[in-house]
Formats: sequence, structure tokens, C-alpha cells
Amino acid sequence: MRVPLIAGNWKMNGSLALVEQFGQAFSKANLSSSIDMAILPPLPYLAAAQTAFEETPLWLGAQTVNPEPSGAYTGEVSASMLSEFGVRYVLVGHSERRSLYYEDDQAVLARTQAILNAGLTPILCVGETLAERDEGRTEAIVLNQVKAVFDALDARERQHVVIAYEPVWAIGTGRTATPEQAQAVHAAIRACLGDYDEQMASTLRLLYGGSMKRENAAELLAQPDIDGGLIGGASLKVDDFLAICQSVG
Ligand code: PGA
Repeated sequence: MRVPLIAGNWKMNGSLALVEQFGQAFSKANLSSSIDMAILPPLPYLAAAQTAFEETPLWLGAQTVNPEPSGAYTGEVSASMLSEFGVRYVLVGHSERRSLYYEDDQAVLARTQAILNAGLTPILCVGETLAERDEGRTEAIVLNQVKAVFDALDARERQHVVIAYEPVWAIGTGRTATPEQAQAVHAAIRACLGDYDEQMASTLRLLYGGSMKRENAAELLAQPDIDGGLIGGASLKVDDFLAICQSVG
């Protein structure tokens, strides 16, 4: 019913050589045809990745986008530019963008709309900090981040979003949410989506992100409301990323 998605967020890492390595490994790997897999390299590598991934099942993604269609925005790229390079998925609201580049809910919404308007799929990242979890505010924080976007989208737009739950305390720390902790938040997100539309809630993909690796992927992905993973560090090693893709049950 929900096609699992494994997406590798390289952040500001990688090289042309790594793009080539992924292209070669994924062109001959034994992979299920019933999952979606994507690599989100830094923007300068998109053209090379488009070519290198041609004979592979890998989709291409981007880590950020500017909400405007064009204009005097030095250093930025638009959704239609990403689309020209075969990009299918675009991250929005990643905790590093929220905290380091001050992208608030309004900025996240504007980017989500620009991504949808270009016919691409936003991967909307949400997640609580450790302090927020300790204060018992995990659900409130996460659901508010979801609602800040979903309240403003129409029914057709909502269906095209992927959500990634990424507890901030688990990103890049080696500390993963337990399968039970992750499943509880995913179930809360799905219930919240059900308030908009039950059908949309049952088909929308919810990814888990935060120190997902080959050792813990299968257990996380086996949870009923976890439909894939957003992988940072472990997506920089082709064997690890392949093993995660192959661990989808
Ligand atoms: P991590 O990053 O897998 O290195 O924790 C995940 C992410 O930031 O998307």
C-alpha cells in the first residue's frame, strides 16, 4: 500500500567520485523493485548524479530550495531548476536548516508550496529537541510543525508530501530513537493526518531519520507506521546504504 522510501541525505559531504561509486554499485545491486530509493547530494553534483544514476533505480533529490521562482536571490536555486536535473524529492524543514539558517514554519511552508508547484515531492522534516522531549512536549512540537504546513495546503497537495520524523537529539549523534519511541510519534502523526483525511493519512509515507544505520534499520522499518528512512551519515558509504535499502522487509 505504502511504497517504502529510503533517502540518503549527504548534507555537505561527498564528491564526484562518491557519485560515481553509487552509480556503479546500484547499477548491479540486487534490490527489490517495490521500494523507492533516493540520494540527495549537494547541489553541484546533481548533473553528474543524473548521468551516473541513469541505469540505477536511484531517484535524485535535493537538500534545499528557495521558495521564489527566479530573481535576485544570490546563492539560491529554484524548484524549477532542480526539476531540470531530474530531481524528484526535496528536503524541507530539516532541523539543520531550521536551526542554522533560521527557517521557521512560514519559510518551511513557502518552500513546500514551491516544491509542490514544480511537481516535485517535498520531504517535510519534523522533530523535537532533547529538552522538548524531556519536558514531555514531543507530540505537541512535532504535530505543530506538521500542522503549520498541512493547514495551509489543499487536499490534493497534502497527498504529495512525505514526512520525515527526525528527533533532533538523534541526528548525527549515534543515538537512535528506539523502535517503540519512533513508532509512537509516527502513530501520532498519522492520527493527526487522519483529522484532515483518513484516506490521505493511510497512504502518506512517514520516514524515520536520526542515526539510522545498517544495524538498526530492519527493526525500525518493521514498525507499522514507519515507511522508510532518511539517512545521513550511513548514506555516505555505499555498502551501508545498500544494506539499509536491502533491509526493507
Ligand atoms: P544521521 O542524519 O543519519 O547522520 O543522524 C539524519 C538526517 O539528518 O537526515
